Amino acid sequence: MLYIGVDLGTSAVKLLLMDEKGHIKNIVSREYPLFFPQPGWSEQNPEDWFAETMKGLKELIKDADKSQVAGISFGGQMHGLVILDDADKVIRPAILWNDGRTYEECDYLNNVIGKEKLSEYTANISFTGFTAPKILWVKNKEPENFARIAKIMLPKDYIAYMLTGVHCTDVSDASGMLLFDVKNRCWSKEMCDICGVAPEMLAKVYESYECVGCLKPEIAEELGVSASVKVAAGAGDNAAAAVGTGTVGDGRCNISLGTSGTIFISSKNFGVDKYNALHSFAHADGTYHLMGCMLSAASCNKWWMDDIIGTKDYGKEQEGICALGENHVYFLPYLMGERSPHNNPNARGTFVGMTMDTGRTEMTQAVLEGVAFALRDSLEVAKSLGIHIERTKICGGGAKSPLWRRIIANVMNMKVDILESEEGPAMGGAMLAAVACGEYASVEEIAEKLVHVVDTVEPEPEIAAKYEKRYAQFKEIYPALKPVFEIIK
Ligand code: XUL
Repeated sequence: MLYIGVDLGTSAVKLLLMDEKGHIKNIVSREYPLFFPQPGWSEQNPEDWFAETMKGLKELIKDADKSQVAGISFGGQMHGLVILDDADKVIRPAILWNDGRTYEECDYLNNVIGKEKLSEYTANISFTGFTAPKILWVKNKEPENFARIAKIMLPKDYIAYMLTGVHCTDVSDASGMLLFDVKNRCWSKEMCDICGVAPEMLAKVYESYECVGCLKPEIAEELGVSASVKVAAGAGDNAAAAVGTGTVGDGRCNISLGTSGTIFISSKNFGVDKYNALHSFAHADGTYHLMGCMLSAASCNKWWMDDIIGTKDYGKEQEGICALGENHVYFLPYLMGERSPHNNPNARGTFVGMTMDTGRTEMTQAVLEGVAFALRDSLEVAKSLGIHIERTKICGGGAKSPLWRRIIANVMNMKVDILESEEGPAMGGAMLAAVACGEYASVEEIAEKLVHVVDTVEPEPEIAAKYEKRYAQFKEIYPALKPVFEIIK
């Protein structure tokens, strides 16, 4: 049988077709526009997501035996607010995970309602990118739009709705809405009341590997597949990537170097970060996870390469980088503000430490290192909670660079396991579909059978020691500049 994983990302939708043994048959990617209507704002049109997903699905299966397609599922960019009216029309562009406009609403939630209450109701506090503050923003700033809301959805759930007609979500993605009682895996009545959200606006919640329904007959016909193709709820992209990299069960770690950068730690037991720097979310395998999320990771390198240096040859730019641990230039990767651990939408990207002999090699190196140091900030929080991590998987566009993987291994002082095929959320989505169709008994079982480590990047003691000193210096820069970020905002 064939299974499709749809990774609804920020720059593109990536679709993957695999057979029941995990052999990848085809991969297709289709881009859509991303809008920054004001500094710190970030929006996309849900209609663009769906149009490109449909085109991508057709392209993905055009040479396959369509009668073999059994299931579809998703990994999706998290936290985005999609609102539909009672005629199922999208009311306004989706407000995305890296949008920083809701600082006033976050201030209200964290300081008037209070972090203790939020944490008690949802296991998390408010960050500007989360969904609940966006709902409050629409209520406060666009009351005419708020009055029209009939359904609230997350990005990938809009695709599931268009494909099946079922208003559904899954526990991992729902966790990032700040409307969800993560511990008990259900909506929080208290949070819905605080945000003015009526229960009928919210989706039915499923485990990620559960089937929510079948394709609508007209969609099945358009794609040329059977109307009995099952659609599984899927997961937020980080939980889906964790499934795709075998980061399931207890105490496993995955680092994603995509548009965002995340460090994801799986856990059998529910737990909350007492410092509120890491998110406490439900996992797609039926358990839980902690996660630190930085808003700009591989996107910092993309910005530096495409927009500033003006090159597409990222590999060539990295060739000259050899003095690992010896760079005296630092880069703060806060191009969209920062989530974990600083929770500061006013933080900004910054180069520090240049001298007359600094060239683009050192600055390129600083960008790669700055992302690694910022991920280490989240790792330090995890360590302070008593979590011990020795090794990690790695995925996302940035993980394709052997140099960046080596920098990560040495800055984090952790082994980095390289997978035979690393297709992150798209692979995880297809795996969740296979579980929903009964091909495998559980997410843990499919991960064990399909995910294979082929190489490990070991930290090099001498370089890791140099990076230890550099990290101590990096840590001083953000607190020193924080008052400046408040002045220049
Ligand atoms: C996670 C987060 C990002 C997006 C990126 O909390 O905001 O990783 O999911 O798509």
